[in-house]
Amino acid sequence: PRDRVKDMLDRPLRDLRISVTDRCNFRCTYCMPAEIFGAGYAFLEKEKLLTFEEITRLTGIFTKLGVEKIRITGGEPLLRGELPKLIRMIDSVNGVQDIALTTNGSLLAKQAHALKEAGVRRVTVSLDSLDDTRFGLMNGVGYSVKKVLDNIEVAAQAGLPVKINMVVKKGTNDEDILPMARYFKEKGHALRFIEFMDVGNTNGWKLDEVVPSRTIVDMIHAEMPLEPVEEGYYGEVASRYRYVGTNVEIGFISSVTQPFCATCTRARLSAEGRLYTCLFASKGVDLRTPLRNGASDDDLEQLIRGTWKKRGDRYSEVRLNQSSDLKIEKAEMSYLGG
Ligand code: GTP
Ligand code: 5AD
Ligand code: SF4
Ligand code: SF4
Repeated sequence: PRDRVKDMLDRPLRDLRISVTDRCNFRCTYCMPAEIFGAGYAFLEKEKLLTFEEITRLTGIFTKLGVEKIRITGGEPLLRGELPKLIRMIDSVNGVQDIALTTNGSLLAKQAHALKEAGVRRVTVSLDSLDDTRFGLMNGVGYSVKKVLDNIEVAAQAGLPVKINMVVKKGTNDEDILPMARYFKEKGHALRFIEFMDVGNTNGWKLDEVVPSRTIVDMIHAEMPLEPVEEGYYGEVASRYRYVGTNVEIGFISSVTQPFCATCTRARLSAEGRLYTCLFASKGVDLRTPLRNGASDDDLEQLIRGTWKKRGDRYSEVRLNQSSDLKIEKAEMSYLGG
């Protein structure tokens, strides 16, 4: 039986984004710039990571409060050992209706089948360019485009619907917008354009590097006519369009120019068990300590309920009104998951 909770802005809790590791084998410039996340960077030690049992137990409590959708994130989630086992455990939790995974795609070929079997419903693969030089620079480790594209097809063959996330940075990969659109229209995978965001403190975000979604819609529409698609669920992050005469969709995630805080239903659980009520929050609420100190399910439920009830976060909307990066201390995206 659910006892749904709403926050101060009347927003329900629907989605739980679980980061399973803060590590990644890429060094995307907008997420984990190599200068900062170098050899000396202190990632979380193994004992600090929530165990699969701890994650599953918390998931069970979150579903009581209204969570239906789970998204597994990182860092790169496929670096966490035995991930399919965790998926199976989460899938068996009462009330979980959807399990999705956000990945850079590099390790998908090996794991796609096992993930699908375990209960992953769909995957989102990040890819910012079809050009090896530009992609290599953006992912920070020279990883090749073809490997990601091949792995996307392996996942699709395994029966996993695939969406593609492309972060657009003006002057870096805006010339890839049309080639990406053409390629994924042909392949039939939904491509989503993400406005470069000021998450974290290290990616040197500047408003003038953001390409507004409106510009991209117009650009694509001029070559391949688009029609809007109705919202798929309350608080959907992406505005979706369809290429006229097909059933292939594209989406736009416009958290800078058209923030969607008003219907934000997402909670985030970091790999070490801190609960964040906003992507831009500076610190989360520690759930691991009570978990490991013998808290009961009821205690944990009260802690999470209380945290959500007093949630008033609407960072992207506040920033829109200021038109610049707010100088606050934020958690890193690689730590928090997207
Ligand atoms: P589905 O609609 O369930 O497929 O998921 P989604 O559209 O939420 O996709 P995904 O989780 O892949 O989110 C895509 C990207 O949107 C993330 O990586 C973030 O960059 C951004 N994003 C997602 N949720 C939020 C949010 O709550 N706030 C902000 N500002 N950005 C978000
Ligand atoms: N701005 C926008 N999107 C970002 N992502 C990571 N950092 C940023 C940023 N600064 C996206 C990645 C990936 C997802 C996990 O979040 O491209 O798709
Ligand atoms: Fe890794 Fe994803 Fe961050 Fe790139 S965006 S560094 S792939 S976690
Ligand atoms: Fe939700 Fe915070 Fe993103 Fe707004 S900025 S949509 S409140 S996570």
